[in-house]
Amino acid sequence: MIDVKEMRKHFLAYEAHPDLVYLDSAASALKAKEVIEVMDEYLYKSGVNVHRGVYKLSYDATTKYEEAREKIAKFINANFEEIVFTRGASSALNLVASSYGLSFLKPGDEIISSELEHHSNQMPWLNVANKTGATIKYIQLNDEGRVTIEEFKKVLTKNTKVVALTHVSNVMGYITPIKEIIELAHEVGAIVIVDGAQSVPHMKIDVKELDCDFLAFSGHKMVGPTGVGVLYGKKKLLDKMPPIEFGGDMAEDVYLDHMTFKDTPYKFETGTPMIAEVIGLGRACEFLQEIGMDEILEHEEKLKKIAIEELKKIPNVEIYNPNTDTGVISFNIKGVHPHDAASVFDKNNVCIRAGHHCAELIIHWLKTVGTLRASFYIYNDEEDVKKFIASVKEAADFFSMFI
Ligand code: ALA
Repeated sequence: MIDVKEMRKHFLAYEAHPDLVYLDSAASALKAKEVIEVMDEYLYKSGVNVHRGVYKLSYDATTKYEEAREKIAKFINANFEEIVFTRGASSALNLVASSYGLSFLKPGDEIISSELEHHSNQMPWLNVANKTGATIKYIQLNDEGRVTIEEFKKVLTKNTKVVALTHVSNVMGYITPIKEIIELAHEVGAIVIVDGAQSVPHMKIDVKELDCDFLAFSGHKMVGPTGVGVLYGKKKLLDKMPPIEFGGDMAEDVYLDHMTFKDTPYKFETGTPMIAEVIGLGRACEFLQEIGMDEILEHEEKLKKIAIEELKKIPNVEIYNPNTDTGVISFNIKGVHPHDAASVFDKNNVCIRAGHHCAELIIHWLKTVGTLRASFYIYNDEEDVKKFIASVKEAADFFSMFI
């Protein structure tokens, strides 16, 4: 069981803001002290480049950077060379689409997407479809707004080449039945790209067990820094993909009329990388592993259950995902724009997100303009839930005067 009082000692944001009720971890998690410490250590005491210097300080920085790759690989049970560092999950997803998608898709090929996708996992494929002549098809969501196997089967054909789906929806909190989808997609020879931005920070992910072809995630949603993310890809696929950025560090040999590149994963990491951020992300993975991924999921499950039960009792509150599988709850005060309602939460130091959450397709599907979204993580407790519910009641009461 997570001891939240102890846990908060690792997050100095609580020391700086004692009244903080932070329920926006689906946007960005707070940063663990241990992560900042290893980043500081590198930045204060070293700060030199990796892979280039022929002096001890640079060798040491390279060792730390590559050790982080090892830790991150272990965290998702990948092989070392299958971890490509990117600027975030969005860059990772764009990398697959721009490299694999634009190189290998052609007219007649089909891409499967869904209305639950974050813009970062739909727009790159829409772009691929527009540029290559491939067709993008959407899985019909069920009445609750979930991706189901039954509906997935209806869009899967022998022409399907790519399936790009979120593992956990950032608006609805649903867990996609991704393992079964991967098995079915592989039967027709399609590859599967999993957007793990909302799953990797919260549950145990084993890429070998899932057998996904690609998995993307960000550091900043898992107590790590902003500016770093990961593209996991099966080596045989990464090997055949061309780089999309050219320049420093990724080149092997360069001539007037031709060039060669380093092997996977380095051919995708152009220029000086995010050294401090990668080292920080390596520490973030250890930090989460020390807590235990099952513990994390269980903790969020407990808080979510209480919050939903209480929300249901408040008149004029519409919950869009009462059966959410994770710690993500989307709701609105009926008749009130989420940005207006958000001001009440802000006044009470309750940090939640309001808007379309960069996932407009599901917002359209819900027939709304946006939602209020609360999301739980390792440093939240039942007291946070109480304060959150008190703010929902206050907002519902206040706006009832106007609706
Ligand atoms: N994609 C992030 C969210 O859902 C920023 O809030």
